[in-house]
Amino acid sequence: MKITVLYYSKTGTTKEMGEKIAEGIKSVEGAEVKVFSLDEVDEAWIMESKAVIMGTPVYMADMCGAMKMWFETTGKKYKLAGKIGGAFATADYIHGGGDISVQNILKNMMVYGMLTYSGGGSYGKPVIHLGPVAIKGVHEESYETFNIYGERFAKKVLEIFG
Ligand SMILES: Cc1cc2nc3c(=O)[nH]c(=O)nc-3n(C[C@H](O)[C@H](O)[C@H](O)COP(=O)(O)O)c2cc1C
Repeated sequence: MKITVLYYSKTGTTKEMGEKIAEGIKSVEGAEVKVFSLDEVDEAWIMESKAVIMGTPVYMADMCGAMKMWFETTGKKYKLAGKIGGAFATADYIHGGGDISVQNILKNMMVYGMLTYSGGGSYGKPVIHLGPVAIKGVHEESYETFNIYGERFAKKVLEIFG
């Protein structure tokens, strides 16, 4: 079962956290994952993916412009409708807009007809409300949460499409 992690990253933090999610996905038997930056994708892999998780640095308390542009233009060609979507973000501040960014990515995914999943509070700790957010500089503290998010996400994708 193919899963895509797609990110934009200027200074590497969002990329790093996307890779932590991918580690969690890989730990689930039957799940395969590839991680791409927005401008270097394997188009066939995305098309064949049952799920796409997108990650952004927070810019101006929102997803970065490149990601918003992706939704407005490039995203159309990947036949996203019906795939499961998830979102994560990295920011400088806990009050900097991480949740808003995640929420807005999920909203854009819904416009394409994607089904969105967060894990929510159903599994207990770590509780992930909308999607994981890491704070640059102390982002290592969130490795485990991002790992677990990936694992939960992959299990849900297999449950729905397996
Ligand atoms: C143009 C710009 C705007 C930013 N705006 C915010 C913001 O509103 N809130 C915040 O917490 N961090 C903000 N940041 C910080 C980044 O979100 C943060 O450093 C992020 O982890 C960088 O991700 P990257 O290493 O993947 O590029 C901004 C950074 C830039 C360059």
